[in-house]
Amino acid sequence: MIKLIAALDEKNGIANNSGIPWNLKADKEYFRDKISSGNILMGRGVYEELKGPLGSGLNYVLTHRHALREGFIAISDIDDIIQHSDDLWIIGGAEVYGQTINLADEIHITKIHKDFHCTKFFPEINDDFKIVSDSGKLEDNKLVFNFLKYKKVK
Ligand SMILES: NC(=O)c1ccc[n+]([C@@H]2O[C@H](COP(=O)([O-])OP(=O)(O)OC[C@H]3O[C@@H](n4cnc5c(N)ncnc54)[C@H](OP(=O)(O)O)[C@@H]3O)[C@@H](O)[C@H]2O)c1
Repeated sequence: MIKLIAALDEKNGIANNSGIPWNLKADKEYFRDKISSGNILMGRGVYEELKGPLGSGLNYVLTHRHALREGFIAISDIDDIIQHSDDLWIIGGAEVYGQTINLADEIHITKIHKDFHCTKFFPEINDDFKIVSDSGKLEDNKLVFNFLKYKKVK
């Protein structure tokens, strides 16, 4: 099962040039809970922002470099990792989402109802995916957001 997970603003923005521009504790907890089991795939951009590996599975980093910190595994071939992972969370960033959305079985989106004037974006979620669960509007830190789960239907 290939699952993408991301938090998006109302224009599908995921970050500006300084990183993620919002502070949403409820989403951080939701994210950590979701990715607590299974392997993880991230781009080198995300890796650079992490203090250490996430969850309890393997942390793969898509990169052309070889030397990474302890706890991370460098890979350069998306197809290879997807074929060899039964349960994989793809956690971004923008470049990696763009290359993997068509491979996803599920997409877990936190939709924040505000424009943060982002410079990096999540790709369009097309008709191959349908929303199968919606938390309804929630509020934290004066931000309104929904947790949405999409499943591939085609
Ligand atoms: N809102 C959210 O949910 C969310 C989630 C995740 C990330 N973000 C934000 O997104 C930003 C990072 O996104 P980004 O697009 O700049 O970076 P990214 O997707 O994390 O990483 C891009 C890097 O991954 C490597 N890469 C990508 N495709 C590759 C391939 N096919 N083969 C080998 N290596 C490949 C390259 O690294 P090398 O240069 O090392 O080769 C490339 O420079 C951060 O600011 C982060 O905070 C937001």
